[in-house]
Amino acid sequence: MDKILIDGGVPLRGEVAVSGAKNAALPALAATLLAEGGHAIHNVPDLADVRTMGRLLSHMGCEVGRGDGRALEVRVPASLSPEAPYEMVKTMRASVLVLGPLVARWGRARVSLPGGCAIGARPIDQHLKALTALGAEIELEHGYVEARAPRGRLSGTSFVFDLPTVTGTENVMMAAALAEGRTVLGNCAREPEVVDLADALRGMGARIEGDGTPEIRIEGVTGLTPLRHRVVPDRIEAGTLLVAGALPGGDVVVRDCVPAHLEALVEKLRAVGASVEPAPGGLRVVGDGRPRATDFRTAPFPGFPTDMQAQMMVLLAIASGSSVVTETVFENRFMHVLELTRLGADIAVDGKTALVKGVASLSGAPVMASDLRASAALVLAGLVARDTTEVLRVYHLDRGYERLEEKLAPLGARIRRVKA
Ligand code: EPZ
Repeated sequence: MDKILIDGGVPLRGEVAVSGAKNAALPALAATLLAEGGHAIHNVPDLADVRTMGRLLSHMGCEVGRGDGRALEVRVPASLSPEAPYEMVKTMRASVLVLGPLVARWGRARVSLPGGCAIGARPIDQHLKALTALGAEIELEHGYVEARAPRGRLSGTSFVFDLPTVTGTENVMMAAALAEGRTVLGNCAREPEVVDLADALRGMGARIEGDGTPEIRIEGVTGLTPLRHRVVPDRIEAGTLLVAGALPGGDVVVRDCVPAHLEALVEKLRAVGASVEPAPGGLRVVGDGRPRATDFRTAPFPGFPTDMQAQMMVLLAIASGSSVVTETVFENRFMHVLELTRLGADIAVDGKTALVKGVASLSGAPVMASDLRASAALVLAGLVARDTTEVLRVYHLDRGYERLEEKLAPLGARIRRVKA
């Protein structure tokens, strides 16, 4: 098992490129199950979660491999075993994204329930309610979702989600693409990854409108063709690198990101005093001295992303003044607070809010990653803390960042990965 060592206090300078988005690559891989044949997905990052989804598709009978360059190629056979076992689903909740495509394309699916998660309960009731509305018969048996399309095909319908769910919207959009007739989904998630999946599905011949708005309309078709798609850049990786550049003395150009996907974050970076300007192929961020305090609350897109909450908290931990952070999407997403406190931060949590009293400096210590974005925040804190910070359990980080230390080191960070 690896750990990451960081000798902090060096401002970051230079350019860094963003990889493809994990949360766009995973649904695109699941979408391959909608059509027999050879699929190719470009700009897919080399991450633990992507490899898990690849293993899951192979387990069903698909061939998955890296073609030339960065394309991930998936060959879907004429028949497969539509099952996602607990052993795989327990390591990655996003495995549930195969449920919709399997029921819609193969008429049945057996998918393990994801179980609990460090950041919250994260039920999939909305996924199941919506698929039931599309005519699927669903039973929960021995920890598995057993789903069937009684007539071999789902039927279009109108359904309104109780709350905007990203993978819920994606799962049902994929299912409805092959359903008979028209489906109208309300209160949908509007994340860029949902739009990217809709683009991918349209490339396969699906008829989808309204993605990116609360209402998505899908005209079901009888068949789809193999996927040829390039996933969007990772806005959360881009956001993490922008926060790194906004640390005191930083001056970083983040290339290959999509500024329109980052507006809520950029607004808060400017509020703490960083300058963020367009630059060729991306954004330039300059961290001008000590950050100023500011409040923020997370919300579904286009609100402030919950996946950037921990990273942004690092800036506020060293700010002049006190800030209030409100986490509205997940009920248990402050696991990083106690670890930041070990580095000298002054943060008090009360339910969904955290009061962050800025301190003049942090000092290095061993800290433990608890989940993907918390681990990114601990790396950022290590960049600004005096002396050495040791981040343990970096397997969390590797789930969603393509060797982050190799992106930060060329910017001047004194960071390295060693065996724990
Ligand atoms: C996606 O998770 C992302 N994962 C998460 O990123 C991200 O944090 C989240 O969206 C919110 O932006 C992927 O795209 C693979 P939700 P998802 O369903 O779809 C509740 C990362 O760090 N809910 O939008 O699972 C749920 O409990 C990860 O890359 C229900 O109650 O999130 C939560 O409180 C972490 N019932 C809220 O909705 C349901 O059926 C939003 O969750 C579904 C969700």
